[in-house]
Amino acid sequence: MNKRVLVKFSGEALAGTEGYGIDTKILDYIAEEIKTLVEHGVEVAIVIGGGNIIRGVTAAADGVIKRTSADYMGMLGTVINGVAMQEALEYKGLSARLQTAIKMEEIAEPFIVRKAMRHFEKGRVVIFGAGTGNPYFTTDTGATLRATEIGASMLIKATKVDWVFNKDPKKYSDAVLIKEASYDEVIKNDIKVMDQTAIALAKDGKLALWVVNLFKNW
Ligand code: GTP
Repeated sequence: MNKRVLVKFSGEALAGTEGYGIDTKILDYIAEEIKTLVEHGVEVAIVIGGGNIIRGVTAAADGVIKRTSADYMGMLGTVINGVAMQEALEYKGLSARLQTAIKMEEIAEPFIVRKAMRHFEKGRVVIFGAGTGNPYFTTDTGATLRATEIGASMLIKATKVDWVFNKDPKKYSDAVLIKEASYDEVIKNDIKVMDQTAIALAKDGKLALWVVNLFKNW
């Protein structure tokens, strides 16, 4: 097992109590957690969602904004979060590089997998922005794709919850806690840990997935 991991967390995690935008205290907390990983010799890649700025599916819900446009807006949201994360990591004394799936070279490097590898060799944290660069894909799928491309040994999905259940424990009293499951079981039982595209890709890439609570010690 190599020591390269990709950490995925949602944009909402950055929003704090405001529910939108970026709470720099949370940004700083996450940067500190990432620093701990780096200090333990882990090569870290990061993917952040964009839901604290705009969520494609929701923005397109009433039809005023087309889904493709809404998804591109969401991808731009992930780049905004990426720029912020890059700053927060450098504020902690780490070296970080943001790469984007959609070229916007005045803001960040374009995604080039071989360049990302070079950054890891040099001890840099690499943040991947703009998802897969395509509408209709989630940032979970983007994270799985990038994790596979960089040969990460694990995708760490950092969420706001403690556990994964077979169904929503808030709605169903008979919800069962899932401590471990194969991708086939996740697909068969429709366990909502990531969307099906991301799960299928993770299965194909034999990528280990670990779901953790972002706000508890790992
Ligand atoms: P090494 O050459 O491997 O040490 O990597 P490096 O990233 O330090 O070198 P490079 O000369 O590629 O980049 C220097 C700085 O420019 C870094 O902060 C990069 O993030 C930034 N940079 C590189 N390419 C681009 C780009 O296309 N757009 C933007 N906005 N910044 C870039």
